Amino acid sequence: MNREENDLLTRTDTGTAMGALFRRYWLPALTVEELPEPDCPPVRTPLLGERLVAFRDSDGRVGLLEEACPHRQASLYFGRNEASGIRCAYHGWKFDRQGRCLDIPSEPSASGFRDAIRVKSYPTVERGGVIWAYLGAPQQQPPPPEFEWATLPTSHLFVSKRLQECNYLQVMEGGLDSSHLSFLHRGTIGSDPVIGMGGSGTDSRILKIIAGDPNPRYETAETDGGLLLGARRIADHGLYYWRVTQFLMPCFNIIAPTGDLSLNAQAWVPLDDHNCWSWAVNYHVDKPLSEAEREAMRRGGGLHVEFVPGTHQGRANRSNDYQQDRAAQGRGDSFTGIPSFAMQDTAVQESQGRIADRTLENLVSSDNGIIVTRRLLARAARSSLAGGPVPGLEPASQAVRAASIFAAEDRLGQVPRDSMQPLPRHARAWGV
Ligand code: FES
Ligand SMILES: [Fe+2]
Repeated sequence: MNREENDLLTRTDTGTAMGALFRRYWLPALTVEELPEPDCPPVRTPLLGERLVAFRDSDGRVGLLEEACPHRQASLYFGRNEASGIRCAYHGWKFDRQGRCLDIPSEPSASGFRDAIRVKSYPTVERGGVIWAYLGAPQQQPPPPEFEWATLPTSHLFVSKRLQECNYLQVMEGGLDSSHLSFLHRGTIGSDPVIGMGGSGTDSRILKIIAGDPNPRYETAETDGGLLLGARRIADHGLYYWRVTQFLMPCFNIIAPTGDLSLNAQAWVPLDDHNCWSWAVNYHVDKPLSEAEREAMRRGGGLHVEFVPGTHQGRANRSNDYQQDRAAQGRGDSFTGIPSFAMQDTAVQESQGRIADRTLENLVSSDNGIIVTRRLLARAARSSLAGGPVPGLEPASQAVRAASIFAAEDRLGQVPRDSMQPLPRHARAWGV
């Protein structure tokens, strides 16, 4: 990849091609817990290089405004959230959730001056325990997100959001790269309570298959909403075992299911080009998560992490070398000695640099999923910058599931498509 292509895919400010692409979609911005009740404290919510502040007004509706007050640029974050608007701490100018100026205390209201003042605002929608934001042109606003997890009651979901101190793309590439499972997560993948593949019944069969075929074949196929990313392993009884992950535009995935474990989905949203929000979602489509499952997630199981209280920063982070335990690594307790699944990912992804320099890469065939994803993103980004169409805006293209399948066929294109295409809501997930 040359430098121009690397810049194209990693820069998301206003006016960039990827920035234009991200601004075509609803993006996860906050968990609903971050704005728990009317008139609660506002929250800084940087997205795509824009400094924004979110608040829940007296009627419980969410506003997402440019952080800088249009008077003299003080941060509205320090303002008072009161009586259906946020009042700047500096000179008391007040704005509602749509950015209209409600009051300028120093100006006689008869002057009409305040009617000409607005602060930039963006629409939001609450679904699946998440407050979503749309930062694009009003005339292009798509229907609300229809990813299956976003349509479920919150009893069926566990959602977490963490800060990663690097560009979104290298984090997303980690989420789409199943070849690292055999190394980075060795020693953790079988024992993790949320994502673990050990255990009884069909799960131990899968573990055996994965261990028995260290050279899976990777295939991809384009869909209306993104890509199918398939890993095919030789199973028993003359069958193949396919794990098929969905990549959905522009920054979402749904991971292939494993047995009766809860399903996993992820999203990666730039705060700016050097930091991203890494979202992890676990869910059952047909029943609530148990308290034991929730507790395991709160404690950093699966794709979640334990947080420094009151922050979105993992306890294991860049400043403490992700709590790597060299003795545990030496004993072979895990491949890395880094305690949790998600922090193993974070450590290697952040170690690639704030923006990974892809001009220095040497890619191999197991990187094929990443190569195809980059091509799709670059094509869509160029199209959106030129005002053209982009994939994955239609609700039907988002209402899909990932799949784990035993099949006789050896090509992804021949695997039964109905297992991956839109399925009736709340039917049992197509898993093994
Ligand atoms: S800077 Fe906000 S009211 Fe003056
Ligand atoms: Fe990983």
